[in-house]
Amino acid sequence: MTDSLDRTTPSSSAELPARLAAGAPGWNSKVDVIVIGSGIAGLTAALRLHEGLKSRREAGTILVVTKDVLSAGSTQWAQGGIAAALGPGDTPEQHERDTLVAGAGACDLEAVRVLVNEGPEAVRELIALGANFDHHDGVLSLTREGGHHRDRIAHAGGDATGAEIQRALVAAIRAAPEIEVIEHALAVDLLKSADGRVCGITLHVMGEGQRDGVGAVQCRAVVLASGGLGQVFSQTTNPAVSTGDGMAIALRAGAVLRDLEFVQFHPTVMYLGPDSRGQQPLISEAVRGEGAFLVDFEGNRFMQGQHELADLAPRDVVAKAITRRMHETSHPHMWLDARHLGAEFWEHRFPTILATARAHGIDPATQLIPVAPACHYASGGVLTDLWGRSTVPGLYATGEVSCTGVHGANRLASNSLLEGLVFSRRIADVLPDELGPYADPGPDEREPGVVDAEIRTPLQAVMTERVGVLRSATGLDVALTELAALAGKQGEIGTAAWESTNLLMISAALAAAAKGREETRGSHWREDFPERNDDQWAGHFDVTLVDGRLQLAFSPSPATDGEDDQ
Ligand code: SIN
Repeated sequence: MTDSLDRTTPSSSAELPARLAAGAPGWNSKVDVIVIGSGIAGLTAALRLHEGLKSRREAGTILVVTKDVLSAGSTQWAQGGIAAALGPGDTPEQHERDTLVAGAGACDLEAVRVLVNEGPEAVRELIALGANFDHHDGVLSLTREGGHHRDRIAHAGGDATGAEIQRALVAAIRAAPEIEVIEHALAVDLLKSADGRVCGITLHVMGEGQRDGVGAVQCRAVVLASGGLGQVFSQTTNPAVSTGDGMAIALRAGAVLRDLEFVQFHPTVMYLGPDSRGQQPLISEAVRGEGAFLVDFEGNRFMQGQHELADLAPRDVVAKAITRRMHETSHPHMWLDARHLGAEFWEHRFPTILATARAHGIDPATQLIPVAPACHYASGGVLTDLWGRSTVPGLYATGEVSCTGVHGANRLASNSLLEGLVFSRRIADVLPDELGPYADPGPDEREPGVVDAEIRTPLQAVMTERVGVLRSATGLDVALTELAALAGKQGEIGTAAWESTNLLMISAALAAAAKGREETRGSHWREDFPERNDDQWAGHFDVTLVDGRLQLAFSPSPATDGEDDQ
C-alpha cells in the first residue's frame, strides 16, 4: 500500500455533533460485553461468546441491546438465502472468484478467503443450531443468484430464509437466559476511558424494555452489530430500524468508516408508485435464479447481450441496465416476467413474495411485476480487521454495520448473512482473550448536539435524488450543501431526533466519499466519470470525524479482481 492521500471534505460540508445531546444517565449497570443489534451477526456473536466463556469455565456477562424487538432487524427480511460452497463440484475457490468479480477490484482478498473457507462449516453449524433449510430428497437445496456461477444459495421456507434463521437464533437466545436482552433500546453513544478504550455505552430505553430512560452500562468490550443505513434513502428494502446508528456511533467514537460510497441498489424492488416511501417489497434475485427475466414496456429482454450471465449478471450491472432503460424510455420502472413459473411453483418456492405481490394487486403467476432499483445494502461501514476489531480499542463490528472488506464495491448476492455469521464467530473466538479491565469514562470535552427530527424527509429526498443510483459532481455538491443546511437545524432531545442526527452524519460521510471517488466502480456510478480507473482509484476512502468535521483519506491498494490472485 502506498501513502495515504489526505483530503478534507469540501467547504460545504456540515459541522456535525461530536456526541449526541442526551439527558444524564438515570441508571447504571455493568456487564462484560455489550452486543448492539439482534440480527444474524449480533445473536451469533452473543451465543458463541456465551458458549466459549462457558467452555472455559469463565462467568462472563453478556448484554444484547436492540432498538425494537429481537426479530425486527434486516435479517428477518432476507429472502434469497445464504451463499456457501456446499454443492457438488463447488469449491471455496469458485465462490472466492465470484465474490471478487462482483466486488469490482475493491475486495480485501484475505477477508474473502476467510469468508469462503469458513462459510460452509458456519452454515452447517447454523443448521445444527436448528435453522430448517429447504431440502429435496434429503439433500440441501441450493439455487443461484446474480453473479454466482454455481448453485450455491441455501434457502429456507422457499423465500423466507432470513425469517427462519432469525427464528432459530432467537429461540437459542431465549434458551440461554444468562444472556441479558434489552429490547426497545437505542444505543446513544460509546463511553471511552482516559486511555481511549471503549468502556461502556449510554442508551435510551423506550418504555417497553426492562429499564426506562437514559442509562449507562459499563463494559469491557462492545460488539456493534446494528445493521445498515437504508433509511438514508426514500425507498429501501431495509426496515425502519436501519438508520445507520451503529456507523454514526462508531464515527463519533473516533472509528474509521470505509467504502461508504458503495451502497448497493437492488435491481428488482417492487415499484409501488412515485410517492411510495420507506421499506419497499423485495423481489428476490432467486426469482431470476429460477428463470424469471426482465423486459421493458415493449417486451424486449434488455439484459440479453449486456453480460454473459444476462438477467443473472452481478447486481450492479442489472441495476444500471434497468436505470438506463428507464431513462431511455422515460418510464419509472421496468417489468419482471415470471409468469411461466406457474402458480404451483410460485406457491411452493416463493410464498412470501407471492403473498406480498398479491397484497399489492399483482399476481406474478399471471401478470408482469413492476420493478425498479432501490437501496438495499451498505457494502462499507466500520473498518475492521479479520477478527472484527475496529480501529478503536475495545470496539468490534460485524454484519452490515462493518466493512470487513469482503464486499468491495458491490456485494455478491447472499454473501451478507454469511459475512455476519463467519465474522461474528471470529469475534467470539478472540474476545475472551482481549477483554480489557473495567474502566471509568474519561473526561469528555466533545460538544453535544442533536438536529431537528423533521430533517429526515428532506434528507431522504436529497440523498435519493443526488446520491442514489446515478451520481455526478454537480448533484453531489448540491447534496453536500443541502446536508450542511440541515445540520444547522437544531432539535429537541429524543429518539426521532437521535435517529435523524445519525442519518445526517452517515449521509454526509457517504456523499463526501461519493464526491471523492471520481470514477465508476461496482455500485458507485458517476455519470461524469463513467469508467473504472484503477490507475487513480484502486483503493479505499476512509472517513473519520475530527472536531465535528468529516475527514476523508484515500488509501491506494491494488485491485483484486480475482484473475491474478488465484
Ligand atoms: C435477494 O433475495 O435478492 C437478496 C439477497 C441478498 O441481498 O443477498
